Amino acid sequence: MFYELFRGKLIFGFNMSKRPKILAVAGSLRKGSYNRKVLDVAIEGAKRADADVTLLDLREYPLPLYNADLVAESGFPDNATKLQQILLEHDGLLIASPEYNASLPGGLKNFIDWTSRANGQLKVGDCYRGKWAGIMTASPGSFGGIRCLAHLRDVLSILLVHVLPFEIAVAKVDTLFEGDEIKDLNMKQMLESLGEMLANTIRKHLHEGTEAKSV
Ligand code: FNR
Repeated sequence: MFYELFRGKLIFGFNMSKRPKILAVAGSLRKGSYNRKVLDVAIEGAKRADADVTLLDLREYPLPLYNADLVAESGFPDNATKLQQILLEHDGLLIASPEYNASLPGGLKNFIDWTSRANGQLKVGDCYRGKWAGIMTASPGSFGGIRCLAHLRDVLSILLVHVLPFEIAVAKVDTLFEGDEIKDLNMKQMLESLGEMLANTIRKHLHEGTEAKSV
């Protein structure tokens, strides 16, 4: 029985498996961001699939534009170190990013650039390697920002993040919400599915990791 307990199996109705920890990030900094609203819907799906979700507000961690000279002159910025710590505490990322000129916004890229760098004990990519990510984008335009997803996928992939094949571009997003409430039930379900899929995928791999260690 103890063997089963350590393997994270259901015993006496208790699920011993680890809860997936997901960091949710909106790539837009603006107050009324549609991407932030869309992210909230996906977060609901992840929570429903029993994940712990932390919403990261990038505005709370302002960063200078990446410049290696800053590190040489005055060390790694505190906020970059804090963000690295936050990333390390999570198993996966749920990212909703606007498309800026057919790519991801500079603020989001700058966040990834800083947190991907070596810092003290951390080597390049340590905050990202082996994590899982679900990505989405939203735009008032007809293409929904689809072009930024390929760029975001590339950036995450080079950092050895497993990006779920399922991704969502929400077109004409300005017509889908009333306040913070999404009115399009098909889109609501799709976004929730992305969050749910991320949580379940991470759980499966955490579980396999536990099993591998306990053998
Ligand atoms: C945009 N926008 C935009 N939209 C799009 O579909 N494709 C694009 O390439 C661009 N490019 C672009 C560049 C810049 C600099 C800005 C500020 C905007 C419009 C964008 O989709 C719209 O502003 C969204 O509302 C931004 O997302 P949030 O802030 O609502 O989450």
